[in-house]
Amino acid sequence: MVARSERAIMDVLAGTHTKGLPPRDEILALLHEHTETPGLRKHALAVEAAMRAYARRFGENPDVWGATGLIHDFDYEKHPTPEEHPRFGCAILRERGFPDPVIEAILGHAAYTGTPRTTPLARALFASDELCGMITATALVQPGKTLAEVTPDSVLRKMKSKSFARSVNRDEIEQGARELGVPLEEHVAFVLAALQAEAEALGL
Ligand SMILES: [Fe+2]
Repeated sequence: MVARSERAIMDVLAGTHTKGLPPRDEILALLHEHTETPGLRKHALAVEAAMRAYARRFGENPDVWGATGLIHDFDYEKHPTPEEHPRFGCAILRERGFPDPVIEAILGHAAYTGTPRTTPLARALFASDELCGMITATALVQPGKTLAEVTPDSVLRKMKSKSFARSVNRDEIEQGARELGVPLEEHVAFVLAALQAEAEALGL
């Protein structure tokens, strides 16, 4: 019993809950191998930034959460249909030994897969994904097209404008915040701040 509990402590100290997760440069290379569209690459970096920030807030592992954000849409460019995305990509991630909770979260971010979002990781990914799209779209209509010009209020206003960035699913942003247990206004402000902190990397 003592040995077992010691091993459990060692696991936590060694961070083996990240077992199977490749280093970030390999994950980025996998993303780039499958995704050439600059906008999709930026979206991946944006969701990574949001996920890292939420991991820190919730006391979770930023590398695991960031990796999940970075790779969640990597199959979308070549396999965008609901029949394939994100199952096609998840099969590749499974082959490469990505941890199950990461794969479950990626499946769960596409509501139509019916995969329940049972972990904070899955709920954070679902909550951040569409919101990152909304924030980026809002930045691109500012005079200087920068994130620095975006305020939480401007994002919330744009969310209410149905003709703006029609492909962004507002219902999913609201549902995501509810599932995550973060009030919508706070969620928008939090993710915006996370993206603004990475504005240079995002080129916005
Ligand atoms: Fe996404």
